[in-house]
Amino acid sequence: DETKAGVKGLVDSGITTIPRIFIQDQHTKHKFDDKPICRDPKINIPIIDFEGIHKDASLRSQAVDQIRSACEKWGFFQAINHGIPTSVLDQAIDGIRRFFEKDVEVKKKYFSRDYSKKIRYCSNINLFSAPILYWKDTLSFDLGRDFSSPEELPEACRDIMITYNNQMWKTGEILCELLSEALGLSPNYLKDIGCVEEMTIGNNYYPECPQPQLTIGVTTHSDPGFVTVLIQDRIGGLQVFCEDQWFDITPVPGALVVNLGYMMQLITNDKFKSAYHRVLSKKEGSRISIGSFFMNNSCSRRYGPIKDLLSDENPPLYPEITLKDIYNNQSSIEELSALQKLKLA
Ligand code: SIN
Ligand code: FE2
Repeated sequence: DETKAGVKGLVDSGITTIPRIFIQDQHTKHKFDDKPICRDPKINIPIIDFEGIHKDASLRSQAVDQIRSACEKWGFFQAINHGIPTSVLDQAIDGIRRFFEKDVEVKKKYFSRDYSKKIRYCSNINLFSAPILYWKDTLSFDLGRDFSSPEELPEACRDIMITYNNQMWKTGEILCELLSEALGLSPNYLKDIGCVEEMTIGNNYYPECPQPQLTIGVTTHSDPGFVTVLIQDRIGGLQVFCEDQWFDITPVPGALVVNLGYMMQLITNDKFKSAYHRVLSKKEGSRISIGSFFMNNSCSRRYGPIKDLLSDENPPLYPEITLKDIYNNQSSIEELSALQKLKLA
């Protein structure tokens, strides 16, 4: 029952040193973790302005060009003026913070390690298999497109997260249109092959940490799906790995952080990158982030490099697989190496 209080429960109990299971060592660290952090403010993931993309063809093609180069180099960008009011993003973050700040008695009603539950609150879902625990608690939603039982959602964030869920489905579709265009495909291409079929929302709470250097909010990983859309509060801590260095993803008010999962890298035959990223723990200020993960877990749907992108000079680098094939072959699905292992000789 203690685990239901989450990592926040540990912090609230007044600990000044963190339990051993949260401490990273050489064995649990990722091989890139000790690479340098680039502090040059001039080099970072692009901030792309979506203003006018639905009305003005030249603004749209400018944005599409920027998206293409961001996806080739970083696998990450931030979008501004994307159509979702900043107030909606801020209220979503406030609502999620309200939930995590409720008593354990309220939160534990949603506690579950069962992925088939539409709504699940849990810290470290892989508690019993993980080599190391993360300094975060998560409330996950799989609400679908037309979520019709709002009463199932925690009251603290009910109304705003229904709005947020609706907005994210639209945003996922718009992003897939722009990504399709960036690949030189027809605007509906990625949607038609099922890239916006399923969406999981992960609402994360990273408590302040008395010994932040010893642990990690989220370890170095790459997202498994097609596209991820993330919002964060002003605390910071998210970093992306690019060309052998780490870069801070600085919070930009009202922005969406967009990144690609390794299924996108696979279907684009490595044209677009799925980048490693991580979240550092902080001594001060609990951090909220909300990630929307677009994927397609359907067992039967096979994905391989998109034929229209292939040529004699660009032969397929991967076989056709389902996301389930990767799950079955890999202890951690969040490792890009899961994809690299599938590479054709
Ligand atoms: C994640 O990549 O899993 C979380 C990112 C974040 O909280 O900023
Ligand atoms: Fe991630």
